[in-house]
Amino acid sequence: MQLSGKPRLALGALLLVVAALPVREAGHDGDDGPPPPPCSPVDRAALLGFKAGVAVDTTGILDTWDGDDCCGAWEGVSCDAATGRVVALRLEAPRLPPPRQRYMEGNLSASLGGLEYLDALVIRDMARIGGAIPASLSRLSRLKQLYLEGNMLAGGIPGSLVKMSSLQFLSLAGNRLEGQLPPELSQLSGLVQINLGRNSLSGGVPPTYKNLFRLAYLDLSNNFFSGAIPAFFGQLKSLALLDLSNNSFSGEIPASVCALRNLTDFSLSHNKLTGVIPPQIGSIASLNSLSLDSNLLVGSIPSSLLSLKKLWNLNLSRNGLSGSLPPGIRHGLPSLVAMDLSHNHLIGGIDQFFRSISTARRTKMISNKNASSDISQVVFPQRLQHMDLSRNRITGALPEFGGDGASLVWLDVSHNAIGGQIPSSVSRLLRLERLDISRNQVKGTIPVSMAAMASLEWLDLSSNALVGRIPDNLTRLTSVRHASFRDNKLCGKIPQARPFNLFPAAAYAGNLCLCGKPLPPCRKT
Ligand SMILES: *[C@@H]1O[C@H](CO)[C@@H](O)[C@H](O)[C@H]1NC(C)=O
Ligand SMILES: *[C@@H]1O[C@H](CO)[C@@H](O)[C@H](O)[C@H]1NC(C)=O
Ligand SMILES: *[C@@H]1O[C@H](CO)[C@@H](O)[C@H](O)[C@H]1NC(C)=O
Ligand SMILES: *[C@@H]1O[C@H](CO)[C@@H](O)[C@H](O)[C@H]1NC(C)=O
Ligand SMILES: *[C@@H]1O[C@H](CO)[C@@H](O)[C@H](O)[C@H]1NC(C)=O
Ligand SMILES: *[C@@H]1O[C@H](CO)[C@@H](O)[C@H](O)[C@H]1NC(C)=O
Repeated sequence: MQLSGKPRLALGALLLVVAALPVREAGHDGDDGPPPPPCSPVDRAALLGFKAGVAVDTTGILDTWDGDDCCGAWEGVSCDAATGRVVALRLEAPRLPPPRQRYMEGNLSASLGGLEYLDALVIRDMARIGGAIPASLSRLSRLKQLYLEGNMLAGGIPGSLVKMSSLQFLSLAGNRLEGQLPPELSQLSGLVQINLGRNSLSGGVPPTYKNLFRLAYLDLSNNFFSGAIPAFFGQLKSLALLDLSNNSFSGEIPASVCALRNLTDFSLSHNKLTGVIPPQIGSIASLNSLSLDSNLLVGSIPSSLLSLKKLWNLNLSRNGLSGSLPPGIRHGLPSLVAMDLSHNHLIGGIDQFFRSISTARRTKMISNKNASSDISQVVFPQRLQHMDLSRNRITGALPEFGGDGASLVWLDVSHNAIGGQIPSSVSRLLRLERLDISRNQVKGTIPVSMAAMASLEWLDLSSNALVGRIPDNLTRLTSVRHASFRDNKLCGKIPQARPFNLFPAAAYAGNLCLCGKPLPPCRKT
């Protein structure tokens, strides 16, 4: 957000020959230099043209656009101190929750094209600035940054933007733009960032875009783009962010992207991609986040994925992936925060898999019997919060948990074929808010130790083969808002304290002989 006052920039001043005079910054009083030149009348007229195109302004910004000196108190306007030319226009609505949102309503005036010394043009989150992007903007040949985000701009992306030969940062995200990507844009070889997310753009990525070799951020998410993901993305070596999510891209993921060495954020979520995950994906050592969820991918999860030391987010949910959970490399994902492999056809043992991402270290005293038991315990990566393996065909048994349970908040292993018992060390997962083990084949009793899981809000143990009682101690879990024990072989009195005696009867249905509220009273014996 811009402050009012005198945010004059000295940018561009160096380009001008100001004979023998040092560049003077506005507001820098105290010496006897000449006063800064007044705002250029040409630029002032262009700004007033913009103001006239705005019918309603609830931000209050344009109220400050008053008087002759547009380089003075006009909010959002920055001038070159030496020349009085406007070099930056930054108008941003504060983000307030409804109904207190602020906005400008109107059109972008063609007069903006008259601000010929403009270096940055930012009109962000004004919500109701509509109409087309004026073709006159192509006259801004010095512009480096064009951010027209979060407005209501309509029509196509003008191919004439290619005349902004200095452009490095382009964002038209969050508008109502339609039509295809202009192939000419590739002539702007200085482009570092293109963000066109959240529009209604369609068509494919033009082949000419292979020339955008400086591109570091490409966000085309939330549009209607289609066609194949071009293999030349693998040649745009500076790419750090590639977000093509929520479009209709089809075909296979080109293996060439695995050659990108600076890629940190890679999302292809919600497309129609087929084929396999390229086995070399693990060679993108820079990856922080990989989201391939909601596609039609098949084959197995490449084990190379589990060697990505910087990966904190992995989402492969909702595909047709099969084969075993990747065996991985011990301590392979030390940075992991969230992993979602749900809604696939994965097989393999859950104990083995958890051990493969475990950070438990073999103690030095190999001869000590304790050492081998340490390593059999699973210690999740320190920052891991979210683990979802639900709706697969995973077998095995939950292993013993060690350490302090790290940061795990969400553990969902429901709808699998997991057997064994609930280990009493599950209580080590002290920060767990959601535990879902439902629809498996888990046997044995509910461990009393679970009474220590003070953060638990959601507990689903339904549709297993649990026996014995529901431990009375569980009533210590006062944060639980949802619990289900249905369809097991439990027996005995339901803990008669809130919230357990208040859950719907369905939460306890389908057991051997549970009794007490909300079910009928226990028979006196
Ligand atoms: C914006 O442009 C549309 C169509 O060109 C016009 O009908 C409307 O009056 C304009 N709004 C303002 C505030 O100038
Ligand atoms: C996908 O994009 C469409 C169109 O932009 C949008 O309406 C929808 O909310 C997006 N869906 C998701 C899951 O982001
Ligand atoms: C990759 O990133 C590093 C560090 O940010 C940078 O110095 C380097 O120039 C980048 N490589 C490419 C090809 O952009
Ligand atoms: C993974 O993707 C699925 C489907 O697109 C989404 O519902 C889920 O919330 C994502 N998981 C995480 C942990 O973000
Ligand atoms: C493990 O070692 C500790 C001392 O280091 C000892 O107190 C404990 O009883 C041992 N546990 C087992 C299961 O051997
Ligand atoms: C369970 O409750 C009993 C008595 O109410 C108590 O002695 C025992 O220590 C409790 N166990 C746990 C693990 O909380």
